[in-house]
Amino acid sequence: MSQLKDLQTRVLHTPSKWGEPLHAHTFPIFQTSTYLFDDTQMGADLFGGKREGHMYSRMGNPTVEYFEELVNSLEGGAGTAAFGSGMGAIHSATMGLLKAGDHLISGDTLYGCSVELFGNRFKDMGVDVSFVNTASDEAVVKAWKPNTKMVYLESPANPTCKISDIKGIAKICHEKGAILVVDCTFTTPVFLPALELGADVVLHSITKYINGHGDVVGGVVTTKCPELLQKIKAFRKDTGSLMSPMDAFLCIRGVKTLPMRMKVHMENGLKVAKFLEQHPKIKQVNHPGLESFPGHKIAMEQMKGFGSTFSFEMQSFEAAKKLMEHVKLCGLAVSLGTLDTLIEHPASMTHAAVPEHLLKQQGLTRELVRISVGLENPDDIIADLKQALEQC
Ligand SMILES: Cc1ncc(COP(=O)(O)O)c(C=O)c1O
Repeated sequence: MSQLKDLQTRVLHTPSKWGEPLHAHTFPIFQTSTYLFDDTQMGADLFGGKREGHMYSRMGNPTVEYFEELVNSLEGGAGTAAFGSGMGAIHSATMGLLKAGDHLISGDTLYGCSVELFGNRFKDMGVDVSFVNTASDEAVVKAWKPNTKMVYLESPANPTCKISDIKGIAKICHEKGAILVVDCTFTTPVFLPALELGADVVLHSITKYINGHGDVVGGVVTTKCPELLQKIKAFRKDTGSLMSPMDAFLCIRGVKTLPMRMKVHMENGLKVAKFLEQHPKIKQVNHPGLESFPGHKIAMEQMKGFGSTFSFEMQSFEAAKKLMEHVKLCGLAVSLGTLDTLIEHPASMTHAAVPEHLLKQQGLTRELVRISVGLENPDDIIADLKQALEQC
């Protein structure tokens, strides 16, 4: 708890390297596409990297940089890069560090579009990809090839909350000369110190908890290695995926309450998970905070807390459908980590594009429902689920 309060103070008082323009209390939106040079030498120096400043907003923008500084202060990295979407962040953190002929070991349980990106686009570009059960360190070692350059995983993974041993896999990667990239969208830097555990690169869809207000699509990548950051930022420039200044302004507003929001998300999520766990119409609840969950032990060792997004299995697809159609407070929508509670059906929505064999490999069934518990009174969410379950 005291660590949470420290993070809350840190994120509220991290200064911008550009100071407080015009003494503004909140950092302004620099809504400009380009910047004026005093003379031609200034332009040449900026483009030549001899002077710090701004040239063009696809390359950098003060509002975006302040948001990056706030995320970096929570992660404890060497620097952060912000993107126009979580997928943009994933693209730059992977393709920006790989080339044709490299081998990528990817977790088999990932957000559906990440599976599509690696399984289709990367294969077309000549990157060899193996989808592996990263909950087993042995499976990662077994999948290793002479050209393996990166291991990529989500922990807890979307949507079954599969937990991977970040510390153990980081050790394997470093012994064998590869990079470990971890998507920590479900937990945020507040509860999962992935860089401290050994990951080289950590990323998030800030569309979720980090912005939290459900009004921005964006992503962030943080690394403890300046050379990796430079490569990722260069790839972002060339592929044009920088976050917009207006979105960065909203994200600055959002991230400033992240530690305190995560505390409530965690308490509410656990309370709802415990209610579902004892309900006779629920077959199984996948929440890393429950003792019955297979990844519980590693989660307790490596995480400082939990997000509020988890999944549960109903007796049948029909029952799952009825539940999602009878809830009144919970919104039937994809996305997660918003202020209010959202519920969705991974097999036909967020993970609809995942090939059948991978769905089977990761245990993602049609009976599975994903919920992201918001900041409401958790008793109201429980009452809503209870009345919906009575109709299943
Ligand atoms: C774990 C995870 N990573 C990445 C993404 C992609 O983020 P975005 O939708 O912001 O592009 C998502 C989206 O749901 C996600 O759940």
